[in-house]
Amino acid sequence: MTLARQSLNPALVGLDAMNFLNEITMRFPDAISFAPGRPFEPLFSAEASLVAVRSFAAHRSSRPLGVALDALAQYGRTKGIICDLVAEMLRRDEQIDVSDESIIVTVGSQEAGFVALSTLYGRHRSDQILLVADPSYVGVSGAARVLGIEMWPVRSAGGLDLGEVERLCRKALREGQCVRALYVIPDFSNPLGVTMPLPDRTALLELSLQYDFLIIEDNAYGMFAFEGQRLPTLKALDRSQRVIYLGTFSKLIYPGIRVGFAVADQSIDGGSLLADEMAKVKSMTTVNTSPIAQGIVGGVLLDNGCSLAAAIRAKVQHYRRNRDRLLQELRESFATVDGVKWNEPKGGFFLTLEVPFSVDDDALLESASTDGVLWVPMRYFYLGGGGESQMRLSFSGLEEPDIARGVERLAGLLRRKQVARAQRVAAPLSR
Ligand SMILES: Cc1ncc(COP(=O)(O)O)c(C=O)c1O
Repeated sequence: MTLARQSLNPALVGLDAMNFLNEITMRFPDAISFAPGRPFEPLFSAEASLVAVRSFAAHRSSRPLGVALDALAQYGRTKGIICDLVAEMLRRDEQIDVSDESIIVTVGSQEAGFVALSTLYGRHRSDQILLVADPSYVGVSGAARVLGIEMWPVRSAGGLDLGEVERLCRKALREGQCVRALYVIPDFSNPLGVTMPLPDRTALLELSLQYDFLIIEDNAYGMFAFEGQRLPTLKALDRSQRVIYLGTFSKLIYPGIRVGFAVADQSIDGGSLLADEMAKVKSMTTVNTSPIAQGIVGGVLLDNGCSLAAAIRAKVQHYRRNRDRLLQELRESFATVDGVKWNEPKGGFFLTLEVPFSVDDDALLESASTDGVLWVPMRYFYLGGGGESQMRLSFSGLEEPDIARGVERLAGLLRRKQVARAQRVAAPLSR
């Protein structure tokens, strides 16, 4: 049977861009790839994590280890079985002080975002707006699209534009609509690699009170800070339960674990917490997050005194070295080239490279086939248009020599584009 594309959820059409990227990645397996935001595999320790699950089982039950492990093979509590350990980790590593009950453990933070949006936004409620920092990670904007949520982009190329947030809140009021929430990645954002300054964090919290919206804070990279004092998360500054916080163990442990969480400590009329309401949605999606996977995370937390800051030191060092190497190579290749600029991220996995040519699917295909280097067109991450001459470069998953070779290849692409442009400019003159 062949189904008409029009009969499917129309949102799927808008989710094609990443498929193109996946296709290119498969077609050019030998290309050096600055494309995926993947953690560095040699720093995983799947084997050690399988031992950790035993620590968790032994800690949770006085029964023989085999029986305690078998209990993890059963269906589990919808909100999760490691909420207490996650709460302790948040206290130690993020200075976020919340109750165990306000936490829901999810299948990656992807599910946390999906469940939060499904809980906050009813279907067919086009009067309820989601503000989205633009550009943004596609996981949450894609989820909003699938759920049919009306999104308004907030300019964020140089950091979230707070004036624009206020303007859009006023517009919603004037038009009888309601901004329910704003999605933002304040620390080492994906895709830009920028950090929200402290005064902006405070001002955003004030705006959320003034215009009565929630903030969905996605903190996938905050622990990967390379220098100086980390800034407090929005949730750590939140005194009025304005912030729903999304966290993940994908980068801290490894992504295959598929464990993330949300903190949703907002009270609902009648006495429950938003986390309890989210659990109702979760019970209709994934039922519960794999207790075995939670047991692994729980074991890693227990083995590290519920603080992962020291446990991830080697990872942070690797990502910092890669960031430094990428910046050095970019300086050496492009410091004197007109129209080439980049930012210097203070942490995380990504930076933005601006180039003097159109960065689109054709340029990516050319870069992959001729130069053997991959990256992501920044325009993929924009809802409201932008980033037409920018690439997202991820430095997380590579070894340093590949970073050097990759930048050399980018320089080759740039030289060819410059020659092509010079020829286009010269052509009318020579006629
Ligand atoms: C900003 C951001 N949020 C969330 C996620 C998803 O994480 P998870 O693997 O926990 O679903 C990612 C993954 O790359 C990300 O970059």
